[in-house]
Amino acid sequence: MQMGQVSLVNSTLFMVNEPTCVHQVLSSKVDNYPKHHLLGEALRPLLGESIFTTNGAQWQRQRQMMNPSFAQARIQVAFGHMQEATDAMLQRIAQWDLNTSHDVQEEMTHVTADIIFRTIFSTSIDSEHAAEIFAAFSEYQALSPRLTLPLVYGLKWLVPFWLRQRSDKAAQRIRQHLMAIIAPRFAQRDAVADQAPSDILGSLLQAKDEATGERFSSEELLNQVAMLFLAGHETSASALSWALHLLAHSPAIQERMHQEVSSIAGNAALQADQLKSLALTWNVFRETLRLFPPVGFFARGVAAQDHMRDKTLKPGDSLVIAPWLIHRHRGLWERPDEFDPDRFTQAAGKASAREAYLPFSAGPRVCIGAAFAHQEAALILATIVRRYRLTPAPHHTPQPVGRLTIRSANGMLLHLTER
Ligand code: HEM
Repeated sequence: MQMGQVSLVNSTLFMVNEPTCVHQVLSSKVDNYPKHHLLGEALRPLLGESIFTTNGAQWQRQRQMMNPSFAQARIQVAFGHMQEATDAMLQRIAQWDLNTSHDVQEEMTHVTADIIFRTIFSTSIDSEHAAEIFAAFSEYQALSPRLTLPLVYGLKWLVPFWLRQRSDKAAQRIRQHLMAIIAPRFAQRDAVADQAPSDILGSLLQAKDEATGERFSSEELLNQVAMLFLAGHETSASALSWALHLLAHSPAIQERMHQEVSSIAGNAALQADQLKSLALTWNVFRETLRLFPPVGFFARGVAAQDHMRDKTLKPGDSLVIAPWLIHRHRGLWERPDEFDPDRFTQAAGKASAREAYLPFSAGPRVCIGAAFAHQEAALILATIVRRYRLTPAPHHTPQPVGRLTIRSANGMLLHLTER
């Protein structure tokens, strides 16, 4: 396996794809490979100093304070919100004209944004603030590739002033709306301190720094909430859209999934404890994340000189780890381009998964929302497949592009037929 490298203006960018080297970066020498500074620069107007971009002691404090919000028990509390948003999705789909195809990417973005909104705030995405935040996020995302690409090549001056200004304004609008929801809850936090939190904001309001006993300031809360909204819906929407696309092309797997969910829940509402029994549904999701990992690559910096294979890495160099490449490498996976959810039940697939599967990254900075994402994905996929049969839209081939996540540039058109 080659370790590619690209010379930049004063540094080198390395592609790190071999499992032992990936382990070195993400786990065994994690302190030497902090999150890339460009990520922080690109996202700071929107997310401030959030857990996604910080490093060292600042990140450790934030992670320790946020972990309890994503513990299994809290995710079970979130299930009720997920169910409400999934019911609202079914009601929207019920309005569709099923004689024509529909862009499921749009619907998956809507339902996952609704879920993250309800789980953070106990408020639906259709409320006034939420709808405005959603619109400003879409604008911010559309502008982001044109802002970040020049930074990668050290060509900051190539970003036109008006573009930066428009993007910063969208970020400010999002932050103002989020703060309008956070501020009254922040003011009330002592009054409700003895009540069990019913949403993520409630649990973040109570979170304490183990060392000092301090709680998040309102500005820190705003940063974390903005980040959770972004990281928590954009990724899941991407994965779910690709899952529906893959299922539309695999009628036999759809039928097996339909049987699985019907045998476990009949026509009744799915319960949180039933989701774990949906083995095939989980494997469909895992296999989708293998073929189309929403975070297709992630970037790290180099703090101190280190060696990897025959290369010397110097401070200031950059590394890119690309799950999108690793998950499809012939030397690491059998039939890598084939959609085969059952591979995770077989010895070869299990071995590959242990060595070369990182849709949620790995090591201490592994995605905090992985269990949350699995739960919402299983619920949404099982709910759709139980009620509808999916088929591809004629003459439509989705075009994968690496934006904030791996999306289809021309939408994800599918036909749905009621069962
Ligand atoms: C299919 C869905 C998801 C995928 C594929 C995914 C993937 C990832 C990946 C690859 C990272 C590490 C990025 C890096 O190291 O540069 C990450 C970090 C993170 N994710 Fe997710 N994510 C998903 C859903 C979620 C959800 C639902 C939430 C929250 C509700 C979330 C919150 C976070 C946070 C807070 C981090 C930063 C963790 C840290 O640095 O300590 N993610 N995610």
